[in-house]
Amino acid sequence: MADSFSLNDAISGSGNPNPQGWPGPWGNPPAGAGGYPGAAYPGTYPGQAPPAAYPGQAPPGAYPGQAPPGAYPGQAPPGAYPGPTAPAYPGPNAPGAYPGQPSGPAAYPGAGPADIPAGPLTVPYEMAFPAGVMPRMLITVMGIIKLNANRLVLDFKSGNDVAFHFNPRFNENNKKVIVCNSNMNNTWGREERQTIFPFESGKPFKIQVLVESDHFKVAVNDAHLLQYNHRVKNLSEIKVLGVSGDISLNSVSHTMI
Ligand code: GAL
Repeated sequence: MADSFSLNDAISGSGNPNPQGWPGPWGNPPAGAGGYPGAAYPGTYPGQAPPAAYPGQAPPGAYPGQAPPGAYPGQAPPGAYPGPTAPAYPGPNAPGAYPGQPSGPAAYPGAGPADIPAGPLTVPYEMAFPAGVMPRMLITVMGIIKLNANRLVLDFKSGNDVAFHFNPRFNENNKKVIVCNSNMNNTWGREERQTIFPFESGKPFKIQVLVESDHFKVAVNDAHLLQYNHRVKNLSEIKVLGVSGDISLNSVSHTMI
């Protein structure tokens, strides 16, 4: 079928620059409430939140800012994925049109209006992973890039060190580039740079970081972007994700796939 686009499509295409295999569940969760793979592993991760905790999230198809045609070699051709692709990725989904929060009490069983998140998260934002990160953990960050944005930063931190710094720069000498690096003992290491740049000022984005045994794997707007080999090998010590930069932040969530 060519009428939907999924991350699996993006990474399994012949042009995939990182052809390492993704876990089977990634991209093929069952449809419907509670249908994403995290639901199948209750308690796998102590800090894991239930799907209902994210009432404002929406299926990928709701975004105008999906990966530009041709930016990723393995993706579907232009115009091939106009429809919603809600079942196609394992991030938590819930009824309600992005970016509007909330979608109403019916979508949030047992919670009154006072319990529903009122709006964007404060930036800079930190999410704690009490047991650190681990393979098959999927972290999803969704928001909107501000107009005339300069930078966006995700920092996966191990104490004072930054195990994985993911830093899209919108204007570095008039070029757009994503800089990845680690900071150990207050010293930056060797940068890994990616010139594929799927972010656009003024547009919504979704970043998915999948922890695998050897690397972090990053997809943006359902298209595979890059992977970053672990330099901090002790994943259980990577206990915080910091999100900062020129964005409004709608959600940060994690699940196991
Ligand atoms: C530096 C910058 C840091 C970080 C680092 C990554 O130039 O000041 O914020 O992005 O590069 O190598």
